[in-house]
Amino acid sequence: MAFSRSSMLALAVTSLVSGASAQLETCSNTNTFSCQSSSTNPTCCFNYPGGALLQTQFWDTNPSTGPTDSWTIHGLWPDNCDGTYESSCDSARAYTNISDILTAQGRTDLLSYMQNYWVDINGDDESFWAHEWGKHGTCINTIDPSCYTNYSSQEEVGDFFQKVVDLFKGLDTYQALSAAGITPSSSKTYTLSEIQAALTSLHDGASVYLGCSSGSLNQVWYFFNVAGNAIDGQYQAVDTLTKSNCPSSGIKYVPK
Ligand SMILES: *[C@@H]1O[C@H](CO)[C@@H](O)[C@H](O)[C@H]1NC(C)=O
Ligand SMILES: *[C@@H]1O[C@H](CO)[C@@H](O)[C@H](O)[C@H]1NC(C)=O
Repeated sequence: MAFSRSSMLALAVTSLVSGASAQLETCSNTNTFSCQSSSTNPTCCFNYPGGALLQTQFWDTNPSTGPTDSWTIHGLWPDNCDGTYESSCDSARAYTNISDILTAQGRTDLLSYMQNYWVDINGDDESFWAHEWGKHGTCINTIDPSCYTNYSSQEEVGDFFQKVVDLFKGLDTYQALSAAGITPSSSKTYTLSEIQAALTSLHDGASVYLGCSSGSLNQVWYFFNVAGNAIDGQYQAVDTLTKSNCPSSGIKYVPK
């Protein structure tokens, strides 16, 4: 179950960065999931208004990016519970030096992973990361600097990128499709329902958003509600809030 997998990841991450001086507040509301409570009070332990966290992925083929046998990371977006979203929430924290920040924090393994799996279609990874952080990351209220004890500059930036990568590692879209017989092909096509079934099974029974461009599958978004903060909290898979733009059949899944 993604539930327990996420809890274990959270523990692993905590111990990995235990040398760091900054720490997010410990949350006790472990059963109060975002978008499942009537509360409209954003706190360091309750994601609001962006209570639907989406781990989004790309399958880029024109040009191809990333490994031929893996999807790549798009980001982690705090959507509102109705599928609308806020963006670019704090221009003062819209950093453009993400690589420098991660390096200064000693997160070099994370940076190397991102260079392989979080790649920009035009080759400008640094701008892509800055865009994802500035547009979406700064809107996650539970990682505001005020939520840290003994905050050190840009600590939340490193926490954000690490969390996105950890979530992505638990959502191997390529493998899940492949296990269902859905493999990249220049001749075969697939139905929306068979693709949805394969990824719903990966996502603990919750439906996913599938995105197409010119009839070719190129995006998937995994929706979660979170209890606690966005870094150490429990992630629960929930159904997509956004309807697919793919045709119901004849969907191409083009090789990289
Ligand atoms: C707070 O952070 C500073 C520097 O980042 C560190 O030297 C200090 O030990 C930390 N204090 C606590 C209580 O963690
Ligand atoms: C990144 O940029 C910010 C804002 O310009 C700056 O305060 C910070 O020192 C930079 N960090 C590193 C590690 O260069």
